[in-house]
Amino acid sequence: MLLKAILLSILAFPAHRAFCLRLSPAPASIAPEAGVPTETPIAGNYTGHFRPQVHFSPPVGFMNDPNGLFRDASGTYHLYYQYNPTAIVAGNQHWGHATSTDLYHWTNQPIALFPHLNVTGIFTGSIIIDVNNTSGFFPNQTNGVVAIYTGDGSDDENQRLAFSTDGGFTFEQFSGNPVLAIGSRAFRDPKVIWHKETQMWVMSVAFANDRAIGFFTSPNLRNWTHVSSFTFHVIGDVYECPNMLPVPLLEEDGSVHETVDLLWISINPGAPLGGSISQYFPGHFNGTHFTAVDEEIRLADFGKDNYATQFWYGVDGDPLEGGALSIAWASNAQYANDVPTGPSEGWRSSMSLPRRNFLKNDAEIGWTLVSTPFDLRPAIGAELASSNSLGNGMLVAQGGVNESNANTGTFMIAVNITSLNGGALGNDAAITFIISSSSSGESLKAQQKLSGDHSLVLDRSNTRGFTNSDFNPQVETELAFTEEWDVVMTIDRSVWEVFVLGGKRSATLLYFPEGILDRVEVATEGLGEQTQVSVRINELSSTWPVATTA
Ligand SMILES: *[C@@H]1O[C@H](CO)[C@@H](O)[C@H](O)[C@H]1NC(C)=O
Ligand SMILES: *[C@@H]1O[C@H](CO)[C@@H](O)[C@H](O)[C@H]1NC(C)=O
Ligand SMILES: *[C@@H]1O[C@H](CO)[C@@H](O)[C@H](O)[C@H]1NC(C)=O
Ligand SMILES: *[C@@H]1O[C@H](CO)[C@@H](O)[C@H](O)[C@H]1NC(C)=O
Ligand SMILES: *[C@@H]1O[C@H](CO)[C@@H](O)[C@H](O)[C@H]1NC(C)=O
Ligand SMILES: *[C@@H]1O[C@H](CO)[C@@H](O)[C@H](O)[C@H]1NC(C)=O
Ligand SMILES: *[C@@H]1O[C@H](CO)[C@@H](O)[C@H](O)[C@H]1NC(C)=O
Ligand SMILES: *[C@@H]1O[C@H](CO)[C@@H](O)[C@H](O)[C@H]1NC(C)=O
Ligand SMILES: *[C@@H]1O[C@H](CO)[C@@H](O)[C@H](O)[C@H]1NC(C)=O
Repeated sequence: MLLKAILLSILAFPAHRAFCLRLSPAPASIAPEAGVPTETPIAGNYTGHFRPQVHFSPPVGFMNDPNGLFRDASGTYHLYYQYNPTAIVAGNQHWGHATSTDLYHWTNQPIALFPHLNVTGIFTGSIIIDVNNTSGFFPNQTNGVVAIYTGDGSDDENQRLAFSTDGGFTFEQFSGNPVLAIGSRAFRDPKVIWHKETQMWVMSVAFANDRAIGFFTSPNLRNWTHVSSFTFHVIGDVYECPNMLPVPLLEEDGSVHETVDLLWISINPGAPLGGSISQYFPGHFNGTHFTAVDEEIRLADFGKDNYATQFWYGVDGDPLEGGALSIAWASNAQYANDVPTGPSEGWRSSMSLPRRNFLKNDAEIGWTLVSTPFDLRPAIGAELASSNSLGNGMLVAQGGVNESNANTGTFMIAVNITSLNGGALGNDAAITFIISSSSSGESLKAQQKLSGDHSLVLDRSNTRGFTNSDFNPQVETELAFTEEWDVVMTIDRSVWEVFVLGGKRSATLLYFPEGILDRVEVATEGLGEQTQVSVRINELSSTWPVATTA
């Protein structure tokens, strides 16, 4: 009955509002509803045809935004996520939970936060570690965990606290909730950081329909003062999931010596390609106000399926090392409720690869985000083919066709091209990637023009497992480079990610083939004689047990 009610309430909303806005009003209850496990992890079956093998996806049910990302003192990464355990569409939002020590091998944990009295949906939020007991929640410990989340009620969205004395596994609601309420139906997604300079907690939170980001400060997480709002707006109909944090500045020589502040805003709907995407602003936060370096529009991803990025809290050590860590929801609100993994495999949505992020004031393109996959080694499997001197030629790799084999349908492709201007570069110079299915003839195709407009096109139109008018057949970007070009590309059963030019541009795209993609072809043409091309093709190494509860 409940499931049916949720489905009907979702369907009743116009398509563009059916997602993060005002999800399903589920009945308020104190106890978790019947059928939702409270103390044990939910079992997942990771063998499915579309199941990513190195990306995180929920055991069953529907997932959206990453939430509460933090790393604890033992080095364990925590990932919480917007989770509907009772249906394969958005609604009935809980916080699912998983942990990992390498960001690829995940252990599913019991659901962490459940709807409760006055809060029908536990919406997006963040987690901090209250080492100084500023909140007063932690009489005896310096590793207390506080979740700051949006409680969604029937006519209000407000910010609430839940605290955990056991390291983020079980939570207690703060009796003084909500800690921040302005009587708005569109006030959500608090991301809290500790601002050392002012010794204050700083929350960025979306005045969603006003397309503004509010900054609030607090000494104790309980009392919040509005200090400014960032109101610059050009693209997007609604703002969500802001993040504001210091990020290492990458120098031209690859070194890092200082940080720059980054304001990240997720927009949905209203992305240039439709639906949801993220936008970012390099700038400076002075304790109360964020000032962007300029008014350029910078999208974080040129694909269609990368949204609601959140950055990890509490990454120890030198913040200049390794970059700011993030993960995004790899889908688009336009069709997240419709992708074919739901009916056939009982789950919907995966996360992006975890990423290291830097800001760079690049000599060629100015301020840009540089994002690369977090150390992929735990996720890389056997080498299938490689060449250090491809020149104008073709390299082909064959992957497995046995669907029971966990690495089937997965690839990692890396290419470096150097000395592009060594010799005559043809007008048709290009590198083309075709990842295809020998059984169905379907394929993904990527083509980078190495002369002329330097366009890069990613094409998913020759896959037949999903038909949806908003599922753009291809995406395109133009890149600035002269002597060198490089890519790291992962193919993971239904998630395709591409990082070019050392991560200066990246894209996440979903794809849903009927057949198994089991062949990779990398071909170059129009290159001069001195141009060096090295290519390596591996399979990914599944990070999931075949059927798992933990
Ligand atoms: C997992 O799903 C596959 C189909 O993808 C099925 O063949 C298999 O029996 C399932 N395993 C378990 C333990 O349910
Ligand atoms: C729930 O909401 C009612 C009405 O606004 C309020 O009186 C009550 O204190 C709230 N209870 C909790 C636990 O938030
Ligand atoms: C904790 O207190 C120390 C000493 O006052 C301060 O340097 C540090 O920034 C504080 N950190 C947090 C997260 O409260
Ligand atoms: C934490 O704060 C509470 C409330 O102020 C206080 O009772 C307790 O002694 C504090 N604990 C520590 C370790 O500072
Ligand atoms: C804190 O420590 C005291 C003394 O050991 C103990 O009585 C009390 O139960 C502890 N409180 C919590 C919340 O763990
Ligand atoms: C801070 O918030 C608490 C409730 O959490 C409230 O009791 C207290 O009056 C507030 N203090 C100030 C200075 O606003
Ligand atoms: C922070 O920036 C705002 C806006 O530019 C300015 O009004 C304020 O004085 C600055 N605060 C500090 C501490 O510099
Ligand atoms: C497919 O792979 C599984 C697991 O490696 C193996 O048990 C099975 O025999 C293979 N099937 C075929 C047809 O090769
Ligand atoms: C590309 O260059 C990077 C940096 O030098 C190197 O780590 C990587 O192994 C190279 N990849 C290939 C396919 O040659």
